[in-house]
Amino acid sequence: MQLMPPAARPACWALYAAFSYADDLIDSGEGTPEERGRRLQEWRDALEADLTSGTSEDPIRLALTDAVWHWGLDLRDLLGALDAVQRDDDRKGVATWQEWRERAHAQNLSWPEQLMRMLVRCGLPVPVRLRDLPGFTRFVEGLYLTDTLRDLVDDLDGEDLWIPAEVLDRFQVTPAELRSRQWTPAVQQLIAHLAGQAREWLENSRRALRDTLPLGPSIVLDTAVELFGAELDALVRAGSAVLHRQVRVPRHIEWRILGPARARAAVVWRLTLPPGRDTVTDTARTVAARRTDAASPTGAAAGDRLGGPEPLGSRIAEPPLPPRPHRDGVRPPTIAAAHLPQHVAIVMDGNGRWATGLGLPRDEGHRAGAMALRDVVQGALEIGLPHLTVYAFSTENWKRSPDEVSKLFAIMRAELLDGELLDHDVRLRWVGSPDGLPDDVADVLRGQEHATRNRAGLTLNICVNYGGRAELTQAGAALARAALAGEIDPARVSEQLFAAHLPHHALPDVDLLWRTSGEIRTSNFLPWHAHYAELHFTDQPWPEVDRRDLWEAIEAYTHRKRRKGAASVQASVPARNEGE
Ligand code: FPP
Repeated sequence: MQLMPPAARPACWALYAAFSYADDLIDSGEGTPEERGRRLQEWRDALEADLTSGTSEDPIRLALTDAVWHWGLDLRDLLGALDAVQRDDDRKGVATWQEWRERAHAQNLSWPEQLMRMLVRCGLPVPVRLRDLPGFTRFVEGLYLTDTLRDLVDDLDGEDLWIPAEVLDRFQVTPAELRSRQWTPAVQQLIAHLAGQAREWLENSRRALRDTLPLGPSIVLDTAVELFGAELDALVRAGSAVLHRQVRVPRHIEWRILGPARARAAVVWRLTLPPGRDTVTDTARTVAARRTDAASPTGAAAGDRLGGPEPLGSRIAEPPLPPRPHRDGVRPPTIAAAHLPQHVAIVMDGNGRWATGLGLPRDEGHRAGAMALRDVVQGALEIGLPHLTVYAFSTENWKRSPDEVSKLFAIMRAELLDGELLDHDVRLRWVGSPDGLPDDVADVLRGQEHATRNRAGLTLNICVNYGGRAELTQAGAALARAALAGEIDPARVSEQLFAAHLPHHALPDVDLLWRTSGEIRTSNFLPWHAHYAELHFTDQPWPEVDRRDLWEAIEAYTHRKRRKGAASVQASVPARNEGE
């Protein structure tokens, strides 16, 4: 919790409090198991009612209700995890590792995924379905086994024992022997084996996840592995004491791990979260807007939004949210619609150099670039731009390392599925070719294109696997085929006919082409559509751009004289200084 962005911490505590409360109710030993089960059921029913009404009289339920509403948490999954805790009451232990694993997953996978949801809401495009990442379930198992060992003494005091019977048999240890706290060689071997097993799972998962997660979540995971490792060290050092008292990691060791991790996390959040998003205000505003739109989170509409693996397009807000204001309260310049460019195209350059310059991996640059795009899209909506096209992945970009390419695709997917872009009145169009593109990327692009097809605000064209010459070649080939089939007369091929055979013929001409990061070239970007575009080059790398830079580019455009080869400015596209 101390490593999460500050804005998310209260909700982390709320989740922790709710889960602990449920767990404590079951473990309390007060009353009969039936009475405890009934108390937990009543609490859970009250929680569902609170979540529907959006408030509660109970402080823990109120905190959880607020966290669910505030951060758009997956309520169904959370309640499923609570139900799994509740099911513990019906049994006294587990027979096999397989059963143990199922219990571990059912109770524990939802919580870290909720943290990821919070990070997405903080503006970081991260994968939410951690359980689909190779190695993550192992992490949860390592964590849970450590927890089982830590709680062993309490479990022995009560009636439950959560070490699988099959491993007790293997070490020829009986529950009765453990309960009588006999520190026999067999018990010693059993504890050493379980601690070694937990450590191996934690380390393996850390290795598997190292290259999958972005820096911020990696620090949280790495630190958790180190803290749990320290706990296992303490357990092993404690010897027979593990059967008599809860073993704690000495404070100075805990702080040796946590201190530097907190400093690193603070720096990484500052660098990788969009400005202002590590505070509560923006999220609160978004959620407040959602609250007015959605029914209750338990109702059908919100249930779809919050529920498990989401079908494509289900997070598309209905009705779309208004643009998120800039954190400094800046407003767009007032420019009459007739003076606005209709179509701005951007080469979002400099992500890699920005990241490398800060000593970060290149994919952190793309992640920060996705955040910059969010803000620019807000600015485009605010100023009333009809078409925005961004160069996200060119056919030349395949020359990059497979690792960078796959991370860039993962960022795009996460952004289009869980980011805020499509919460607004944005119609997504994919410009580019599916050839060679991973299916899951193409599916998201197509799916979100379909889901936003009726939007009328801003058309956001995302060029993914796009190449200008390839586009022209395709148009040429299509014309040649049509000519061979006798459908067109080659002598009558006009610009209009050529344009009609372009794969993206609906794309309007570009009025303003902007490239960041100091490069003065257009790099195979929209050669047909940008033939008469005004060019705008700026020095700052794309991750440092925000909506104000878009507005500046548009203002500069309004001062250009658009003659298009004529002696005076064309009436159809009045430059500001001519029209006024
Ligand atoms: C160029 O910088 C940038 C890219 C190849 C990727 C741009 C993609 C994003 C900003 C993510 C977009 C997200 C969505 C949802 C469309 P570079 O890496 O070439 O920088 P360098 O020139 O410094 O190496």
